[in-house]
Amino acid sequence: MKIIATDRSGVSREIEGRDGWTLMEMLRDAGLPITAECGGACACATCHVYVEEGWYEKLVPKSDAETDMLDMALAVQDNSRLACQITCSDALDGIKVTLAPE
Ligand code: FES
Repeated sequence: MKIIATDRSGVSREIEGRDGWTLMEMLRDAGLPITAECGGACACATCHVYVEEGWYEKLVPKSDAETDMLDMALAVQDNSRLACQITCSDALDGIKVTLAPE
């Protein structure tokens, strides 16, 4: 699957997503500046991304833990998600995300 990721300077690139891995892992492994301090435990919000309209609706809904963590994040929007809580699959082929400000 493909992920279209836009960094904080507005530059987009296409990266390869591996089934079963998280979006956070794919963004980090591709060299995007995503801190992911907690390593994907839904405990830091440093993997905050904005998911483009049309894709956001296709995601598995947020857990209570993700909702709580986003409540503490900065610059949250209606389409905010934590990338470590999104699992790559063919259903998300072509998903577009933008890194939220740090
Ligand atoms: S990596 Fe910490 S919440 Fe996603």
